[in-house]
Amino acid sequence: MALSSILSLLSFLLYFIQLDVVFSGTVQKEGTICTVRSSINGSDDAPAILQAFQMCGTNGVIQLHDPLYHIETVMNTTGLSNVQIDLNGTMLWGTNLTYWRASGLPLGYDNFTTAWVLGGDQIVFDGHGVGTFDGNGQLWYNLANGVSNFPGRPISLMISNSTNSHYTGIRFVQSQFWTMAIKDSEDVLLENIYINSTSNNSVPARNTDGVDTLFSNRITFRNWTVVNGDDCISLKANSTNILIQDSVFHGGLGVSIGSIGQLNGVFEMIQSVTAERILAIGSRYAGYVKTWTGVQQGFPPNGGGGGIGFATNITFRDFTLQNLTENVAMITQCTSFEGATGDCDTSLFQLSNITWGPGITGSIQTDTLATMQCSGDAPCPGISLLGFNEVASVGAREIKCSNVVDPVGFNCTGPT
Ligand SMILES: *[C@@H]1O[C@H](CO)[C@@H](O)[C@H](O)[C@H]1NC(C)=O
Ligand SMILES: *[C@@H]1O[C@H](CO)[C@@H](O)[C@H](O)[C@H]1NC(C)=O
Ligand SMILES: *[C@@H]1O[C@H](CO)[C@@H](O)[C@H](O)[C@H]1NC(C)=O
Ligand SMILES: *[C@@H]1O[C@H](CO)[C@@H](O)[C@H](O)[C@H]1NC(C)=O
Ligand SMILES: *[C@@H]1O[C@H](CO)[C@@H](O)[C@H](O)[C@H]1NC(C)=O
Ligand SMILES: *[C@@H]1O[C@H](CO)[C@@H](O)[C@H](O)[C@H]1NC(C)=O
Ligand SMILES: *[C@@H]1O[C@H](CO)[C@@H](O)[C@H](O)[C@H]1NC(C)=O
Ligand SMILES: *[C@@H]1O[C@H](CO)[C@@H](O)[C@H](O)[C@H]1NC(C)=O
Ligand SMILES: *[C@@H]1O[C@H](CO)[C@@H](O)[C@H](O)[C@H]1NC(C)=O
Ligand SMILES: *[C@@H]1O[C@H](CO)[C@@H](O)[C@H](O)[C@H]1NC(C)=O
Ligand SMILES: *[C@@H]1O[C@H](CO)[C@@H](O)[C@H](O)[C@H]1NC(C)=O
Ligand SMILES: *[C@@H]1O[C@H](CO)[C@@H](O)[C@H](O)[C@H]1NC(C)=O
Repeated sequence: MALSSILSLLSFLLYFIQLDVVFSGTVQKEGTICTVRSSINGSDDAPAILQAFQMCGTNGVIQLHDPLYHIETVMNTTGLSNVQIDLNGTMLWGTNLTYWRASGLPLGYDNFTTAWVLGGDQIVFDGHGVGTFDGNGQLWYNLANGVSNFPGRPISLMISNSTNSHYTGIRFVQSQFWTMAIKDSEDVLLENIYINSTSNNSVPARNTDGVDTLFSNRITFRNWTVVNGDDCISLKANSTNILIQDSVFHGGLGVSIGSIGQLNGVFEMIQSVTAERILAIGSRYAGYVKTWTGVQQGFPPNGGGGGIGFATNITFRDFTLQNLTENVAMITQCTSFEGATGDCDTSLFQLSNITWGPGITGSIQTDTLATMQCSGDAPCPGISLLGFNEVASVGAREIKCSNVVDPVGFNCTGPT
Protein backbone atom coordinates (compact mmCIF):
# COMPACT_ATOMS: atom_id res chain seq x y z
CA MET A 1 0.00 0.00 0.00
CA ALA A 2 1.39 3.38 -0.94
CA LEU A 3 2.25 5.71 1.89
CA SER A 4 -0.30 8.25 0.69
CA SER A 5 -3.10 5.66 0.85
CA ILE A 6 -2.11 4.71 4.37
CA LEU A 7 -2.13 8.38 5.36
CA SER A 8 -5.54 9.04 3.88
CA LEU A 9 -6.94 5.89 5.54
CA LEU A 10 -5.49 7.14 8.81
CA SER A 11 -7.03 10.61 8.47
CA PHE A 12 -10.32 8.99 7.49
CA LEU A 13 -10.28 6.93 10.70
CA LEU A 14 -9.23 9.95 12.74
CA TYR A 15 -12.15 11.89 11.31
CA PHE A 16 -14.59 9.34 12.72
CA ILE A 17 -12.80 9.06 16.03
CA GLN A 18 -13.04 12.83 16.27
CA LEU A 19 -16.78 12.78 15.47
CA ASP A 20 -17.19 10.43 18.41
CA VAL A 21 -15.99 13.04 20.83
CA VAL A 22 -16.83 16.35 19.16
CA PHE A 23 -20.52 17.20 19.10
CA SER A 24 -20.21 20.97 18.83
CA GLY A 25 -20.43 22.96 15.61
CA THR A 26 -17.37 22.87 13.37
CA VAL A 27 -15.92 24.85 10.50
CA GLN A 28 -14.71 23.25 7.30
CA LYS A 29 -12.42 25.54 5.33
CA GLU A 30 -11.73 25.06 1.65
CA GLY A 31 -9.78 27.87 0.08
CA THR A 32 -11.59 31.05 1.06
CA ILE A 33 -14.88 29.26 1.83
CA CYS A 34 -15.78 28.43 5.41
CA THR A 35 -18.72 26.07 5.86
CA VAL A 36 -20.21 25.87 9.33
CA ARG A 37 -21.58 22.47 10.30
CA SER A 38 -24.09 22.68 13.11
CA SER A 39 -23.60 20.77 16.33
CA ILE A 40 -24.82 17.23 16.53
CA ASN A 41 -26.39 17.55 19.96
CA GLY A 42 -28.12 20.91 19.59
CA SER A 43 -25.47 22.78 21.56
CA ASP A 44 -24.42 26.37 20.85
CA ASP A 45 -23.28 26.97 17.27
CA ALA A 46 -22.23 30.57 17.88
CA PRO A 47 -18.56 29.70 18.64
CA ALA A 48 -18.20 27.88 15.31
CA ILE A 49 -19.89 30.73 13.44
CA LEU A 50 -17.54 33.24 15.08
CA GLN A 51 -14.59 31.05 14.08
CA ALA A 52 -15.81 30.99 10.48
CA PHE A 53 -15.98 34.80 10.45
CA GLN A 54 -12.46 34.95 11.84
CA MET A 55 -11.12 32.60 9.16
CA CYS A 56 -13.13 33.79 6.15
CA GLY A 57 -14.45 37.25 7.10
CA THR A 58 -12.03 39.03 4.77
CA ASN A 59 -12.26 38.20 1.05
CA GLY A 60 -14.16 35.01 1.82
CA VAL A 61 -17.46 33.17 1.94
CA ILE A 62 -19.30 31.94 5.05
CA GLN A 63 -21.73 29.13 4.31
CA LEU A 64 -24.50 28.32 6.76
CA HIS A 65 -26.12 25.52 4.83
CA ASP A 66 -27.36 23.19 7.55
CA PRO A 67 -31.09 23.21 8.35
CA LEU A 68 -30.73 24.51 11.92
CA TYR A 69 -28.16 26.45 13.93
CA HIS A 70 -28.66 27.06 17.65
CA ILE A 71 -27.45 30.45 18.84
CA GLU A 72 -27.03 30.48 22.61
CA THR A 73 -24.49 33.30 22.99
CA VAL A 74 -23.98 36.79 21.55
CA MET A 75 -22.06 37.30 18.34
CA ASN A 76 -19.86 40.26 17.39
CA THR A 77 -18.69 39.98 13.79
CA THR A 78 -17.45 43.44 12.85
CA GLY A 79 -14.59 44.75 10.74
CA LEU A 80 -15.46 42.34 7.91
CA SER A 81 -14.37 43.10 4.37
CA ASN A 82 -15.58 41.69 1.05
CA VAL A 83 -17.43 38.75 2.51
CA GLN A 84 -20.41 36.76 1.32
CA ILE A 85 -22.65 35.20 3.95
CA ASP A 86 -24.86 32.46 2.66
CA LEU A 87 -27.67 31.38 4.99
CA ASN A 88 -29.82 28.55 3.76
CA GLY A 89 -31.24 27.27 7.01
CA THR A 90 -32.64 28.66 10.25
CA MET A 91 -30.70 30.33 13.02
CA LEU A 92 -32.69 29.81 16.21
CA TRP A 93 -31.93 32.05 19.18
CA GLY A 94 -31.87 30.34 22.59
CA THR A 95 -34.40 30.41 25.38
CA ASN A 96 -32.16 31.39 28.31
CA LEU A 97 -33.68 34.84 28.74
CA THR A 98 -31.60 35.38 31.90
CA TYR A 99 -28.45 35.04 29.80
CA TRP A 100 -29.64 37.32 27.00
CA ARG A 101 -30.88 40.02 29.37
CA ALA A 102 -27.50 40.11 31.10
CA SER A 103 -25.25 39.72 28.07
CA GLY A 104 -26.66 41.67 25.09
CA LEU A 105 -24.12 43.78 23.18
CA PRO A 106 -24.79 47.52 23.42
CA LEU A 107 -26.59 49.32 20.59
CA GLY A 108 -24.89 52.49 21.80
CA TYR A 109 -28.18 54.41 21.85
CA ASP A 110 -30.76 54.43 24.60
CA ASN A 111 -29.63 51.43 26.58
CA PHE A 112 -30.79 48.84 24.09
CA THR A 113 -28.79 45.74 23.24
CA THR A 114 -28.42 43.29 20.38
CA ALA A 115 -27.84 39.56 20.06
CA TRP A 116 -25.68 39.93 16.91
CA VAL A 117 -23.70 42.92 15.71
CA LEU A 118 -22.49 42.59 12.12
CA GLY A 119 -20.41 45.15 10.28
CA GLY A 120 -17.80 45.92 7.68
CA ASP A 121 -17.32 46.89 4.07
CA GLN A 122 -18.80 45.00 1.10
CA ILE A 123 -20.88 42.47 2.98
CA VAL A 124 -23.31 40.41 0.91
CA PHE A 125 -25.77 38.49 3.09
CA ASP A 126 -27.99 36.19 1.02
CA GLY A 127 -30.79 34.13 2.53
CA HIS A 128 -32.03 32.89 -0.86
CA GLY A 129 -35.61 33.47 0.30
CA VAL A 130 -35.28 30.65 2.86
CA GLY A 131 -32.53 31.62 5.30
CA THR A 132 -34.33 32.48 8.55
CA PHE A 133 -33.64 34.29 11.81
CA ASP A 134 -35.97 32.89 14.49
CA GLY A 135 -35.71 34.95 17.68
CA ASN A 136 -37.97 32.73 19.78
CA GLY A 137 -39.81 36.00 20.38
CA GLN A 138 -42.96 34.61 21.95
CA LEU A 139 -41.00 34.04 25.17
CA TRP A 140 -40.04 37.72 25.12
CA TYR A 141 -43.57 38.93 24.36
CA ASN A 142 -44.85 36.85 27.28
CA LEU A 143 -42.09 38.09 29.61
CA ALA A 144 -42.60 41.77 28.68
CA ASN A 145 -46.38 41.33 28.89
CA GLY A 146 -46.97 44.62 27.06
CA VAL A 147 -44.42 46.68 29.05
CA SER A 148 -42.69 49.14 26.71
CA ASN A 149 -38.97 48.56 26.07
CA PHE A 150 -38.76 45.80 28.67
CA PRO A 151 -35.12 45.89 29.87
CA GLY A 152 -32.67 43.63 28.11
CA ARG A 153 -34.78 42.45 25.17
CA PRO A 154 -32.15 42.18 22.42
CA ILE A 155 -32.44 43.49 18.86
CA SER A 156 -32.14 40.44 16.57
CA LEU A 157 -29.54 41.94 14.24
CA MET A 158 -27.60 45.18 14.42
CA ILE A 159 -25.90 46.26 11.22
CA SER A 160 -23.15 48.51 12.47
CA ASN A 161 -20.41 50.63 10.91
CA SER A 162 -21.15 49.13 7.49
CA THR A 163 -20.58 50.40 3.98
CA ASN A 164 -21.43 49.15 0.48
CA SER A 165 -23.40 46.18 1.70
CA HIS A 166 -26.34 44.15 0.43
CA TYR A 167 -28.79 42.02 2.38
CA THR A 168 -31.29 39.95 0.39
CA GLY A 169 -33.77 37.10 0.67
CA ILE A 170 -33.72 36.84 4.46
CA ARG A 171 -36.68 35.89 6.66
CA PHE A 172 -37.03 37.08 10.26
CA VAL A 173 -39.69 35.47 12.41
CA GLN A 174 -40.62 36.10 16.05
CA SER A 175 -37.97 38.72 16.70
CA GLN A 176 -37.05 39.20 20.34
CA PHE A 177 -37.39 43.03 20.14
CA TRP A 178 -36.68 45.32 17.14
CA THR A 179 -35.83 43.01 14.25
CA MET A 180 -32.97 45.15 12.96
CA ALA A 181 -31.09 48.32 13.81
CA ILE A 182 -28.84 49.99 11.26
CA LYS A 183 -26.34 52.32 12.87
CA ASP A 184 -23.30 54.29 11.64
CA SER A 185 -23.72 52.88 8.14
CA GLU A 186 -23.76 54.16 4.58
CA ASP A 187 -24.79 52.67 1.24
CA VAL A 188 -26.65 49.62 2.44
CA LEU A 189 -29.38 47.95 0.37
CA LEU A 190 -31.77 45.52 2.05
CA GLU A 191 -34.21 43.82 -0.30
CA ASN A 192 -36.60 40.87 -0.48
CA ILE A 193 -36.90 40.78 3.29
CA TYR A 194 -39.74 39.03 5.12
CA ILE A 195 -40.44 39.90 8.75
CA ASN A 196 -43.23 38.38 10.83
CA SER A 197 -43.42 38.89 14.58
CA THR A 198 -46.90 37.85 15.61
CA SER A 199 -47.93 36.96 19.14
CA ASN A 200 -49.84 33.70 19.38
CA ASN A 201 -51.74 34.83 22.49
CA SER A 202 -53.34 38.01 23.85
CA VAL A 203 -50.00 39.56 24.87
CA PRO A 204 -48.95 42.09 22.21
CA ALA A 205 -45.79 41.79 20.08
CA ARG A 206 -44.85 45.30 21.23
CA ASN A 207 -41.50 46.92 20.24
CA THR A 208 -41.05 44.45 17.38
CA ASP A 209 -40.12 47.25 14.93
CA GLY A 210 -39.13 45.92 11.50
CA VAL A 211 -36.02 48.10 11.45
CA ASP A 212 -34.73 51.32 13.03
CA THR A 213 -32.05 53.48 11.42
CA LEU A 214 -29.62 55.65 13.40
CA PHE A 215 -26.68 57.79 12.18
CA SER A 216 -26.94 56.32 8.71
CA ASN A 217 -26.95 57.66 5.16
CA ARG A 218 -28.15 56.25 1.83
CA ILE A 219 -30.03 53.20 3.10
CA THR A 220 -32.52 51.51 0.75
CA PHE A 221 -35.31 49.13 1.77
CA ARG A 222 -36.93 47.40 -1.20
CA ASN A 223 -39.58 44.67 -1.34
CA TRP A 224 -40.07 44.22 2.38
CA THR A 225 -42.98 42.37 3.89
CA VAL A 226 -43.51 43.35 7.52
CA VAL A 227 -46.06 41.76 9.84
CA ASN A 228 -45.61 43.12 13.36
CA GLY A 229 -46.95 45.05 16.30
CA ASP A 230 -45.03 48.33 16.14
CA ASP A 231 -43.26 50.62 13.65
CA CYS A 232 -42.88 48.73 10.36
CA ILE A 233 -39.87 50.84 9.37
CA SER A 234 -38.64 53.60 11.66
CA LEU A 235 -36.09 56.30 10.91
CA LYS A 236 -34.46 57.83 13.94
CA ALA A 237 -31.57 60.13 14.87
CA ASN A 238 -29.43 61.35 11.97
CA SER A 239 -30.96 59.25 9.23
CA THR A 240 -30.51 60.81 5.80
CA ASN A 241 -31.30 59.83 2.20
CA ILE A 242 -33.50 56.87 3.05
CA LEU A 243 -35.52 55.13 0.33
CA ILE A 244 -38.35 52.67 1.06
CA GLN A 245 -39.99 51.03 -1.95
CA ASP A 246 -42.33 48.26 -3.11
CA SER A 247 -43.21 46.95 0.32
CA VAL A 248 -46.19 45.40 2.07
CA PHE A 249 -47.15 46.04 5.69
CA HIS A 250 -49.66 43.91 7.60
CA GLY A 251 -50.72 45.76 10.74
CA GLY A 252 -48.06 47.74 12.55
CA LEU A 253 -47.84 51.52 12.59
CA GLY A 254 -46.65 52.12 8.99
CA VAL A 255 -43.56 54.15 8.12
CA SER A 256 -42.41 56.11 11.16
CA ILE A 257 -40.25 59.20 11.30
CA GLY A 258 -39.02 59.12 14.91
CA SER A 259 -39.72 59.11 17.57
CA ILE A 260 -37.03 61.72 17.87
CA GLY A 261 -36.13 64.56 20.22
CA GLN A 262 -35.90 62.30 23.26
CA LEU A 263 -32.52 63.46 24.54
CA ASN A 264 -32.60 66.81 26.31
CA GLY A 265 -30.55 69.44 24.47
CA VAL A 266 -29.18 66.96 21.92
CA PHE A 267 -29.36 67.95 18.23
CA GLU A 268 -30.61 65.25 15.86
CA MET A 269 -32.11 65.32 12.39
CA ILE A 270 -33.85 63.29 9.71
CA GLN A 271 -33.58 64.49 6.12
CA SER A 272 -34.56 63.35 2.62
CA VAL A 273 -36.76 60.30 2.99
CA THR A 274 -39.01 58.79 0.32
CA ALA A 275 -41.46 55.95 0.93
CA GLU A 276 -43.26 54.87 -2.23
CA ARG A 277 -45.29 52.02 -3.70
CA ILE A 278 -46.38 50.66 -0.33
CA LEU A 279 -49.38 48.43 0.38
CA ALA A 280 -50.57 48.89 3.98
CA ILE A 281 -53.13 46.34 5.18
CA GLY A 282 -54.80 47.16 8.49
CA SER A 283 -51.86 49.28 9.61
CA ARG A 284 -52.54 52.18 11.95
CA TYR A 285 -51.06 54.95 9.75
CA ALA A 286 -49.43 55.35 6.35
CA GLY A 287 -46.81 57.89 7.45
CA TYR A 288 -46.32 58.72 11.13
CA VAL A 289 -44.10 61.56 12.42
CA LYS A 290 -43.49 61.73 16.16
CA THR A 291 -41.32 63.88 18.41
CA TRP A 292 -40.97 64.11 22.15
CA THR A 293 -42.16 67.27 23.90
CA GLY A 294 -39.76 70.06 24.82
CA VAL A 295 -39.95 69.23 28.50
CA GLN A 296 -37.97 66.27 29.73
CA GLN A 297 -39.95 63.91 31.92
CA GLY A 298 -38.17 60.77 33.08
CA PHE A 299 -35.31 59.08 31.30
CA PRO A 300 -34.90 56.96 28.16
CA PRO A 301 -35.96 54.55 26.99
CA ASN A 302 -39.50 55.21 28.21
CA GLY A 303 -39.05 58.83 29.25
CA GLY A 304 -37.20 61.89 28.00
CA GLY A 305 -37.87 64.92 25.82
CA GLY A 306 -36.30 68.31 25.18
CA GLY A 307 -34.35 67.25 22.10
CA ILE A 308 -33.71 69.75 19.30
CA GLY A 309 -33.03 69.50 15.57
CA PHE A 310 -35.20 69.04 12.50
CA ALA A 311 -36.90 66.61 10.13
CA THR A 312 -37.43 67.80 6.57
CA ASN A 313 -37.93 66.73 2.95
CA ILE A 314 -40.00 63.64 3.67
CA THR A 315 -42.39 62.12 1.13
CA PHE A 316 -44.94 59.32 1.44
CA ARG A 317 -46.42 58.66 -2.01
CA ASP A 318 -48.16 55.92 -3.98
CA PHE A 319 -49.59 54.07 -0.99
CA THR A 320 -52.44 51.61 -1.36
CA LEU A 321 -54.38 51.41 1.89
CA GLN A 322 -56.61 48.57 2.98
CA ASN A 323 -58.59 49.36 6.10
CA LEU A 324 -56.03 51.60 7.76
CA THR A 325 -57.21 51.71 11.38
CA GLU A 326 -56.53 55.39 12.16
CA ASN A 327 -55.17 58.11 9.83
CA VAL A 328 -53.29 58.39 6.57
CA ALA A 329 -51.16 61.23 7.89
CA MET A 330 -50.21 61.54 11.54
CA ILE A 331 -47.96 64.09 13.24
CA THR A 332 -47.54 64.36 16.98
CA GLN A 333 -45.06 66.45 18.94
CA CYS A 334 -46.64 65.32 22.16
CA THR A 335 -44.73 62.12 22.93
CA SER A 336 -43.88 62.05 26.61
CA PHE A 337 -43.14 59.76 29.52
CA GLU A 338 -45.63 56.91 29.67
CA GLY A 339 -48.70 58.22 31.42
CA ALA A 340 -47.57 61.87 31.33
CA THR A 341 -49.64 64.35 29.34
CA GLY A 342 -49.40 67.97 28.26
CA ASP A 343 -46.50 70.19 27.12
CA CYS A 344 -47.62 69.53 23.54
CA ASP A 345 -46.65 73.03 22.41
CA THR A 346 -43.14 72.97 23.86
CA SER A 347 -41.06 70.95 21.41
CA LEU A 348 -38.43 72.96 19.54
CA PHE A 349 -37.82 70.09 17.14
CA GLN A 350 -38.63 71.63 13.74
CA LEU A 351 -40.75 69.63 11.30
CA SER A 352 -41.05 70.95 7.73
CA ASN A 353 -41.61 69.93 4.11
CA ILE A 354 -43.47 66.69 4.72
CA THR A 355 -45.70 65.43 1.90
CA TRP A 356 -48.29 62.68 1.82
CA GLY A 357 -49.27 61.93 -1.79
CA PRO A 358 -49.96 61.93 -4.59
CA GLY A 359 -51.12 58.44 -5.46
CA ILE A 360 -52.65 57.47 -2.11
CA THR A 361 -55.71 55.27 -2.67
CA GLY A 362 -57.80 52.75 -0.74
CA SER A 363 -59.65 52.97 2.53
CA ILE A 364 -59.42 53.98 6.17
CA GLN A 365 -61.78 52.79 8.88
CA THR A 366 -62.18 56.19 10.59
CA ASP A 367 -63.56 59.62 9.71
CA THR A 368 -60.16 61.34 10.13
CA LEU A 369 -57.81 61.40 7.15
CA ALA A 370 -55.11 63.28 9.01
CA THR A 371 -54.21 64.36 12.54
CA MET A 372 -51.32 66.81 12.54
CA GLN A 373 -50.34 68.26 15.89
CA CYS A 374 -47.31 70.49 15.51
CA SER A 375 -45.69 72.21 18.46
CA GLY A 376 -46.81 75.77 19.18
CA ASP A 377 -43.15 76.61 19.76
CA ALA A 378 -42.10 75.21 16.35
CA PRO A 379 -45.06 75.37 13.92
CA CYS A 380 -44.71 73.23 10.76
CA PRO A 381 -44.38 74.82 7.30
CA GLY A 382 -44.47 72.90 4.04
CA ILE A 383 -47.00 70.23 5.01
CA SER A 384 -48.74 68.85 1.89
CA LEU A 385 -51.58 66.38 1.51
CA LEU A 386 -52.01 65.69 -2.19
CA GLY A 387 -54.93 63.85 -3.78
CA PHE A 388 -56.60 62.73 -0.54
CA ASN A 389 -59.96 62.79 -2.35
CA GLU A 390 -59.02 59.33 -3.64
CA VAL A 391 -58.99 57.84 -0.13
CA ALA A 392 -62.30 56.34 1.03
CA SER A 393 -63.20 56.98 4.67
CA VAL A 394 -66.25 56.84 6.87
CA GLY A 395 -68.09 60.00 7.98
CA ALA A 396 -66.82 63.54 8.00
CA ARG A 397 -63.34 63.23 6.43
CA GLU A 398 -61.66 65.38 9.08
CA ILE A 399 -58.22 66.90 8.67
CA LYS A 400 -57.29 68.00 12.16
CA CYS A 401 -54.41 70.46 12.55
CA SER A 402 -52.61 72.43 15.21
CA ASN A 403 -49.84 74.86 14.28
CA VAL A 404 -49.66 73.79 10.63
CA VAL A 405 -48.42 76.80 8.63
CA ASP A 406 -49.82 77.43 5.12
CA PRO A 407 -51.17 73.95 4.39
CA VAL A 408 -50.64 72.79 0.80
CA GLY A 409 -53.43 70.92 -1.00
CA PHE A 410 -55.85 70.88 1.92
CA ASN A 411 -57.77 72.97 4.42
CA CYS A 412 -57.79 72.01 8.06
CA THR A 413 -61.26 71.09 9.33
CA GLY A 414 -60.50 71.74 13.01
CA PRO A 415 -57.92 71.45 15.79
CA THR A 416 -56.33 68.20 16.96
C1 LIG B 1 -30.91 25.65 0.14
O1 LIG B 1 -32.23 25.27 0.58
C2 LIG B 1 -33.06 24.86 -0.50
C3 LIG B 1 -34.45 24.66 0.06
O2 LIG B 1 -34.43 24.13 1.35
C4 LIG B 1 -32.49 23.61 -1.13
O3 LIG B 1 -33.27 23.22 -2.21
C5 LIG B 1 -31.07 23.91 -1.62
O4 LIG B 1 -30.47 22.74 -2.09
C6 LIG B 1 -30.22 24.46 -0.48
N1 LIG B 1 -28.93 24.90 -0.99
C7 LIG B 1 -27.81 24.62 -0.36
C8 LIG B 1 -26.57 25.17 -0.98
O5 LIG B 1 -27.77 23.98 0.68
C1 LIG C 1 -28.84 30.79 31.81
O1 LIG C 1 -27.89 31.83 31.80
C2 LIG C 1 -27.45 32.18 33.10
C3 LIG C 1 -26.62 33.44 32.95
O2 LIG C 1 -25.64 33.27 31.97
C4 LIG C 1 -26.72 31.01 33.71
O3 LIG C 1 -26.28 31.34 34.99
C5 LIG C 1 -27.65 29.82 33.75
O4 LIG C 1 -26.94 28.68 34.20
C6 LIG C 1 -28.24 29.54 32.40
N1 LIG C 1 -29.28 28.54 32.52
C7 LIG C 1 -29.27 27.43 31.82
C8 LIG C 1 -30.45 26.53 32.02
O5 LIG C 1 -28.40 27.18 31.01
C1 LIG D 1 -17.35 44.27 18.66
O1 LIG D 1 -15.98 43.98 18.68
C2 LIG D 1 -15.14 45.11 18.30
C3 LIG D 1 -13.73 44.61 18.16
O2 LIG D 1 -13.35 43.91 19.28
C4 LIG D 1 -15.31 46.17 19.36
O3 LIG D 1 -14.54 47.30 19.01
C5 LIG D 1 -16.76 46.58 19.42
O4 LIG D 1 -16.97 47.49 20.47
C6 LIG D 1 -17.66 45.37 19.66
N1 LIG D 1 -19.05 45.79 19.46
C7 LIG D 1 -19.99 45.61 20.39
C8 LIG D 1 -21.35 46.15 20.07
O5 LIG D 1 -19.80 45.02 21.43
C1 LIG E 1 -15.56 51.10 11.09
O1 LIG E 1 -15.11 50.25 10.07
C2 LIG E 1 -13.90 50.68 9.48
C3 LIG E 1 -13.55 49.70 8.36
O2 LIG E 1 -14.66 49.17 7.72
C4 LIG E 1 -12.80 50.69 10.52
O3 LIG E 1 -11.63 51.20 9.94
C5 LIG E 1 -13.22 51.58 11.69
O4 LIG E 1 -12.29 51.46 12.73
C6 LIG E 1 -14.57 51.14 12.23
N1 LIG E 1 -15.02 52.09 13.23
C7 LIG E 1 -15.48 51.71 14.41
C8 LIG E 1 -15.92 52.80 15.32
O5 LIG E 1 -15.57 50.55 14.75
C1 LIG F 1 -32.40 51.06 30.78
O1 LIG F 1 -32.77 52.23 31.45
C2 LIG F 1 -34.02 52.14 32.11
C3 LIG F 1 -34.39 53.52 32.63
O2 LIG F 1 -33.29 54.21 33.10
C4 LIG F 1 -33.93 51.09 33.20
O3 LIG F 1 -35.19 50.96 33.83
C5 LIG F 1 -33.56 49.78 32.57
O4 LIG F 1 -33.39 48.81 33.56
C6 LIG F 1 -32.29 49.91 31.77
N1 LIG F 1 -32.08 48.67 31.05
C7 LIG F 1 -30.95 47.98 31.11
C8 LIG F 1 -30.87 46.73 30.30
O5 LIG F 1 -30.03 48.36 31.76
C1 LIG G 1 -40.07 40.01 -2.78
O1 LIG G 1 -39.72 39.35 -1.57
C2 LIG G 1 -40.39 38.11 -1.41
C3 LIG G 1 -39.99 37.56 -0.05
O2 LIG G 1 -40.60 38.30 0.98
C4 LIG G 1 -40.02 37.16 -2.52
O3 LIG G 1 -40.74 35.97 -2.39
C5 LIG G 1 -40.34 37.80 -3.87
O4 LIG G 1 -39.87 36.98 -4.90
C6 LIG G 1 -39.67 39.17 -3.96
N1 LIG G 1 -40.10 39.83 -5.18
C7 LIG G 1 -39.26 40.19 -6.12
C8 LIG G 1 -39.85 40.91 -7.28
O5 LIG G 1 -38.06 39.95 -6.05
C1 LIG H 1 -47.38 35.71 10.14
O1 LIG H 1 -47.12 34.61 10.99
C2 LIG H 1 -48.29 34.00 11.54
C3 LIG H 1 -47.85 32.87 12.43
O2 LIG H 1 -46.95 33.30 13.38
C4 LIG H 1 -49.15 33.47 10.41
O3 LIG H 1 -50.34 32.95 10.95
C5 LIG H 1 -49.48 34.60 9.43
O4 LIG H 1 -50.15 34.07 8.31
C6 LIG H 1 -48.21 35.28 8.94
N1 LIG H 1 -48.60 36.44 8.14
C7 LIG H 1 -48.13 36.67 6.92
C8 LIG H 1 -48.71 37.83 6.19
O5 LIG H 1 -47.25 36.00 6.40
C1 LIG I 1 -26.51 64.70 13.96
O1 LIG I 1 -26.04 65.34 12.80
C2 LIG I 1 -25.87 66.74 12.97
C3 LIG I 1 -25.55 67.35 11.62
O2 LIG I 1 -24.54 66.64 11.00
C4 LIG I 1 -24.76 66.96 14.00
O3 LIG I 1 -24.60 68.35 14.20
C5 LIG I 1 -25.20 66.33 15.31
O4 LIG I 1 -24.18 66.42 16.25
C6 LIG I 1 -25.54 64.86 15.11
N1 LIG I 1 -26.14 64.37 16.31
C7 LIG I 1 -25.55 63.49 17.10
C8 LIG I 1 -26.32 63.09 18.32
O5 LIG I 1 -24.48 63.00 16.84
C1 LIG J 1 -35.29 65.59 -1.01
O1 LIG J 1 -35.20 64.18 -0.97
C2 LIG J 1 -35.08 63.59 -2.26
C3 LIG J 1 -35.03 62.09 -2.09
O2 LIG J 1 -36.00 61.64 -1.23
C4 LIG J 1 -33.83 64.09 -2.95
O3 LIG J 1 -33.78 63.55 -4.25
C5 LIG J 1 -33.83 65.59 -3.01
O4 LIG J 1 -32.59 66.03 -3.51
C6 LIG J 1 -34.03 66.16 -1.62
N1 LIG J 1 -34.16 67.61 -1.73
C7 LIG J 1 -33.52 68.42 -0.92
C8 LIG J 1 -33.77 69.87 -1.15
O5 LIG J 1 -32.78 68.03 -0.05
C1 LIG K 1 -62.12 46.12 5.41
O1 LIG K 1 -62.84 45.73 6.58
C2 LIG K 1 -64.19 45.47 6.32
C3 LIG K 1 -64.91 45.25 7.64
O2 LIG K 1 -64.01 44.89 8.64
C4 LIG K 1 -64.27 44.24 5.41
O3 LIG K 1 -65.60 43.96 5.11
C5 LIG K 1 -63.52 44.55 4.11
O4 LIG K 1 -63.46 43.40 3.31
C6 LIG K 1 -62.11 44.99 4.39
N1 LIG K 1 -61.53 45.48 3.14
C7 LIG K 1 -60.31 45.16 2.75
C8 LIG K 1 -59.86 45.74 1.44
O5 LIG K 1 -59.56 44.45 3.41
C1 LIG L 1 -38.69 73.52 2.46
O1 LIG L 1 -39.06 73.73 1.11
C2 LIG L 1 -39.00 75.11 0.76
C3 LIG L 1 -39.62 75.24 -0.63
O2 LIG L 1 -39.14 74.27 -1.49
C4 LIG L 1 -37.55 75.56 0.79
O3 LIG L 1 -37.45 76.91 0.47
C5 LIG L 1 -37.04 75.35 2.21
O4 LIG L 1 -35.66 75.65 2.24
C6 LIG L 1 -37.24 73.91 2.67
N1 LIG L 1 -36.92 73.81 4.08
C7 LIG L 1 -35.93 73.03 4.54
C8 LIG L 1 -35.72 73.05 6.01
O5 LIG L 1 -35.25 72.35 3.80
C1 LIG M 1 -59.56 75.62 0.91
O1 LIG M 1 -60.53 76.59 1.21
C2 LIG M 1 -60.54 77.69 0.27
C3 LIG M 1 -61.49 78.74 0.78
O2 LIG M 1 -62.71 78.16 1.10
C4 LIG M 1 -60.92 77.16 -1.10
O3 LIG M 1 -60.85 78.19 -2.05
C5 LIG M 1 -59.92 76.07 -1.49
O4 LIG M 1 -60.31 75.48 -2.72
C6 LIG M 1 -59.84 75.00 -0.44
N1 LIG M 1 -58.73 74.08 -0.79
C7 LIG M 1 -58.88 72.76 -0.86
C8 LIG M 1 -57.67 71.97 -1.26
O5 LIG M 1 -59.92 72.22 -0.61
